[in-house]
Amino acid sequence: MKNTKQYLRAAFAALLFAAVLSSCIRDEQSPGYEYMPDMYRSPAIEAYVDYGEIRDTIRYEKMHQISARKPVEGTIAYSDNAVNDMPYLIPNTFEGYEEAGQKVRSPLESTEEIVNQGKKIYTDFCIQCHGKEGQGNGPVVEKGGHPAPQPFNKGLKDLPEGKMFHTLTYGKGAMGSHASQLTKEERWKVVAYVKTLQHHGEEEEQEENKQD
Ligand code: HEC
Repeated sequence: MKNTKQYLRAAFAALLFAAVLSSCIRDEQSPGYEYMPDMYRSPAIEAYVDYGEIRDTIRYEKMHQISARKPVEGTIAYSDNAVNDMPYLIPNTFEGYEEAGQKVRSPLESTEEIVNQGKKIYTDFCIQCHGKEGQGNGPVVEKGGHPAPQPFNKGLKDLPEGKMFHTLTYGKGAMGSHASQLTKEERWKVVAYVKTLQHHGEEEEQEENKQD
């Protein structure tokens, strides 16, 4: 009995000694023996790689395929500027032009501020052809011989805003597209100003009529 106890004690001491010894490692950076390595280092899974369905085997042939789904057709990226970032879906066709005239409406209110901003854009981008008062007599037409647009307050008096936007987006006849120069918001601002030019001279006419 005594022998067994002594034997057990010796065995325990030997085990303890071995455990203490094995925990002494020269490399200070070494974490020692790792019982559950996943808890020390999580596996570096790449988000866009399909590792296949079997969890512990990496399927190398699948590692070069994209696994994330493409967005559904017609998906629109989130944006905090809906005017600029909503796609303009009406095509550049004759039917599209007519459709724009009937359906497309400005998302902006024609406040004085918007009209003034539109006037600034008109002065920078349109005046050279359409002229200061929208009479189609800008210097590019008068001196440069460019085909003249009709005056906004005569031939284009009843042109709906949707057609104006469509023309600014795609161009029409001798007028090129302004989609690369002006954002959608800027196009709508200049449309707000062109709409005031459609009424250019009306007040004077009324004055004249009163005098008659
Ligand atoms: C290079 C000269 C030129 C410039 C610059 C120009 N336009 Fe024009 N624009 C024209 C001509 C020419 C037409 C007539 C096009 C046609 O009907 O064939 C026209 C037509 C238009 C029309 C009538 C479109 C329709 O649907 O009938 C609008 C509105 C218009 N322009 C607005 C603008 C605005 C706003 C700008 C500035 C952002 C601008 N244009 C810049 C030459 C120009």
